[in-house]
Amino acid sequence: MANNKFIYDYTNLLSERIGKENGINLEDLNKIQDKIDDAFDTVFSNPTLEHKCVCENLDNVDLSKIKSLAKDIRGNFENFIVLGIGGSSLGSDALFTALSKSGYNLLPADKRNGPRFFVVDSIAPDIFIDLINNLDLTKTMFCVVSKSGKTTETMTQFFYTQKRCEELLGESWKEHFVVLTDETDNFLNNFALEHNLKVMYIPTLLGGRYSVLSAVGLLPAAVLGYDIDAIIAGAKSMLAQSQNRNVLENAPLLSAVLNYLNYQNGKKISILIPYTDKLNMFDDWYCQLWGESIGRDLDKDGNKLCGDARVGQTPIQVTGPSVQHSQFQLYLEGLDDKVITFIGVNNYATDDNLPKNLDKLFGEHVTDGRTFGDLLGIERMASTEALVQYSKPSETILIDHIDEEGMGKLFMFFMLKMMFSGALLGINPFGQPAVESIKKGVANMLKGQEVFQSRNKIEL
Ligand code: PA5
Repeated sequence: MANNKFIYDYTNLLSERIGKENGINLEDLNKIQDKIDDAFDTVFSNPTLEHKCVCENLDNVDLSKIKSLAKDIRGNFENFIVLGIGGSSLGSDALFTALSKSGYNLLPADKRNGPRFFVVDSIAPDIFIDLINNLDLTKTMFCVVSKSGKTTETMTQFFYTQKRCEELLGESWKEHFVVLTDETDNFLNNFALEHNLKVMYIPTLLGGRYSVLSAVGLLPAAVLGYDIDAIIAGAKSMLAQSQNRNVLENAPLLSAVLNYLNYQNGKKISILIPYTDKLNMFDDWYCQLWGESIGRDLDKDGNKLCGDARVGQTPIQVTGPSVQHSQFQLYLEGLDDKVITFIGVNNYATDDNLPKNLDKLFGEHVTDGRTFGDLLGIERMASTEALVQYSKPSETILIDHIDEEGMGKLFMFFMLKMMFSGALLGINPFGQPAVESIKKGVANMLKGQEVFQSRNKIEL
């Protein structure tokens, strides 16, 4: 395996850098050693079945089966469309955005390393139906992803495309669908079995937002020609690194602990800023992982948490350097309620020298030996330094380059950080009871439940 170095740098969270008010004194970690031990044990020594499943999935996922199905799809289709939403779509979108060439779908077939790829997590008709209208359905494979097998948006997309394909292709519509779902008595699974569709199963205990390293993320990745062994190898090396009780040698645990101390110190907002647009969808994936796992009004034992005892750190998705020109004013001079995680990249797959004319603007030789990637690094460091000047906390993850191994490490880092954080906060980071209540609400309204008519409004 190529060695894509991953560095977790927490210097700018410490009081010696940003002062006592917002900074952390590492000696304070001793005061919460029991909590740190408990977080480690919750994930590794005494895990719930869900914790175990996230880690064991890396050994259990059937890569050969995924590769064999992917090979078949790559040889037979020009378009590959993921139909799914939330945890069932964000992971594959994050991998595609990170690992594909810019403008990938516009490239001719011989310049692409697989079919054109779209993730449709929308039922907005002027997006979804427009896309379907513009595809040659005879050359399109749909990958329907729904763990529960009954999510309204995904099932609507599925049955719409299924009908369109059936009208066009007759019985052979069945060759244009692969279904990823739970191996239970759910609507989608039953429908798929009844119609002899290709099916791959998602482990029952692996929740949507933790499922990217199963067929949910890996089948699309393999169809696109990515090295899924390297994705899993990257994730496994992160998992191995995190099985160390010494918090100062365990990056996901340390990041969780420092974030927990920041949260206790009023940092109720977590902002993830990658310095590359290639990680935008990864950032969306992170926001779902964080928001859905951490927003809780019950503790891990099921006791109701009221008022300020409720748990929730709001995740925000932005990208550098554009965020410097939009929200940084707020981050620097606004409320002391944010902690920022930067992701920096050392080497970009495509890069070039900075244009020489910049020397006229900034001074002689400033561009000597410098590339666009170097400028991005300087932009990121200028932002972290500005935060230090304003005594605001930030941490930085640095990876050598964006590749399969690096993505595996990033996904696993944040899933482990999430699971450790759940334990530190005393909540269960699995399940999403409140989201389920909206799913039920949609179903009830579809079935005719009366809709509340608002009266307090201004019509123009
Ligand atoms: O993380 C989650 O569990 C959710 O975001 C789900 O993935 C999302 O609601 C879609 O659910 P399903 O995969 O059951 O269609």
